[in-house]
Amino acid sequence: MISTRALSKDFVVSRSHTVHAVRGIDLDVEPGELVAVLGPNGAGKTTTMRMLTTLIAPTAGTAQVAGFDVTAQPAEVRRRIGYVGQGNAAGHSQLAGDELTSQGVIYGLDRRAAKRRTDELLDGLDLTSLARRKVSELSGGQRRRLDVTMGLVHVPTLLFLDEPSTGLDPQNRANLWEHILRMRAAYDMTVVLTTHYLDEADSMAERVVVVDHGEVIADDTPEALKSRLAGDRLVVHGTDSRRLAELAQRLPGAREVRYADTRVEARVDDGPSALPELIRAGVDAGVPITSAQVHRPTLDDVFLALTGRSLRENESTDSTAGKEAA
Ligand SMILES: Nc1ncnc2c1ncn2[C@@H]1O[C@H](COP(=O)(O)OP(=O)(O)O)[C@@H](O)[C@H]1O
Ligand SMILES: [Mg+2]
Repeated sequence: MISTRALSKDFVVSRSHTVHAVRGIDLDVEPGELVAVLGPNGAGKTTTMRMLTTLIAPTAGTAQVAGFDVTAQPAEVRRRIGYVGQGNAAGHSQLAGDELTSQGVIYGLDRRAAKRRTDELLDGLDLTSLARRKVSELSGGQRRRLDVTMGLVHVPTLLFLDEPSTGLDPQNRANLWEHILRMRAAYDMTVVLTTHYLDEADSMAERVVVVDHGEVIADDTPEALKSRLAGDRLVVHGTDSRRLAELAQRLPGAREVRYADTRVEARVDDGPSALPELIRAGVDAGVPITSAQVHRPTLDDVFLALTGRSLRENESTDSTAGKEAA
């Protein structure tokens, strides 16, 4: 469904300054996949999506989307894809249902067909109650669901969603996801979306492509990424944390061992088997452990292991969301 090779985009900002937004991305997506592109703000997610949706031209490299080349056959690509950009697409005082119908007309359906399609979508996605309401009066979550539905009016085989859930509260994010998964099942679509929410990439996507500084730095299932790259994290407390840290250092695959006050932290390959071993070693050495936890890795641990930085620092900076809509 998607195949890119060395896809790149430079923005020439001034004579002396060029931004290398996307630096040689190779990406393959099979029909029916749901792929989350995960990365911090500025990683190049939107730029990549805009190239794949023919909105901007690559500086170098190639991209085939839905069987056509984005540079040579943009119209063929557009006919087969849906795209919901970052920020809200729908915006005025139109009724939500009319907004969907207009979208269909923009994509070349005649008005009757667009109306029929609108009813079918609203019905199929349980949004009928929103049809007669003004877009401007919908809540953030309802509006985002409408936005995502807009990407479906012309029956795309491939749907691109750029940060569909950014700015929504957890309840609305959950609703939106249910909506996306339902649409995908009902219309048999391939879905490529971007997010900087680690937990949702982890729980919802079958495959996560991690990008940083315009490059793909990992591409696999969340489970595989976590077990290969991160390992489990042990956190134990005891009065002699220095001695406990020494014992932790001897555990299989122990790394990143740190201690302070009564707390010891260590990364190990297999937490559930390492923890009892450490407890036993503590008892044998006369430095008992008073509390202990095993943390399974998160995608943030993966990102940290790959880049030395935490993605979580980015989660509070949603300020760029919606900029593009302006
Ligand atoms: N039109 C543009 N002109 C100049 N720089 C841009 C433009 N669009 C994006 N960039 C820069 O390219 C980089 C990647 O941006 P973007 O693709 O929007 O990242 P993301 O979507 O991952 O947050 C950033 O450094 C951004 O500032
Ligand atoms: Mg973006």
